[in-house]
Amino acid sequence: MIHLFRFRRPVLFRLILAALFFSALPAFAAEDPRLEQSREIVKAFAGQLQAELKAAMGAGGPAAAIHVCKDVAPAVASQLSRKHGAQVVRTSLRVRNTANLPADWQVEVLREFDERADEAGDGPLEYFETRRDGRFRYMKAIPTGGVCVACHGGAVSDDVRQLLDEHYPHDRARGYAPGDIRGAFSIVWPEQSGPDE
Ligand code: HEC
Repeated sequence: MIHLFRFRRPVLFRLILAALFFSALPAFAAEDPRLEQSREIVKAFAGQLQAELKAAMGAGGPAAAIHVCKDVAPAVASQLSRKHGAQVVRTSLRVRNTANLPADWQVEVLREFDERADEAGDGPLEYFETRRDGRFRYMKAIPTGGVCVACHGGAVSDDVRQLLDEHYPHDRARGYAPGDIRGAFSIVWPEQSGPDE
């Protein structure tokens, strides 16, 4: 027994070192070039949506702007996905379109965003992680703004309600107030494609 013990001890020590090394891995994600790339994609995505939403709302009110969220948002998401070779989506804990339902890991991050939204400080809520298999995951919280409540608030107008009921019979994305986390942008990069490779 003593014999075994003497040989096992260094093995155990190495295991502890390995555990320390792997638990420190997420810290390296800050160095991953896909983090900056992800932030830029989200900026472009959010900017384009905001501009189109504002123009459509100004021209015809929320009922006329629904198509921006319904058609433009998914189109921009797939266009950005193709362009960058990453999966770019919007998701939420309470989705309007079931096509936007979150995966398990996204549910976890969204819950954390909700918890941290109540904390003091208004910095952007972000999550990122370089996976051990080389994939990179990024999420950024989307807060509810004043303009959003026309379609995501508790009291939407009759014409908007009618259109939403018609297109989204399983809509759970109403009842939000300004400041609530409406959802998140999410980007998943595959293992082999760093942005500059
Ligand atoms: C004119 C109505 C309208 C306005 C204003 C609006 N949305 Fe939406 N939103 C929609 C519709 C319709 C969808 C469903 C899109 C789809 O089919 O993918 C949606 C979907 C979303 C989603 C995707 C997750 C889900 O619920 O399916 C997010 C996130 C979102 N909206 C955030 C916002 C935010 C933040 C604002 C304010 C800046 C906003 N929306 C303003 C109508 C609107």
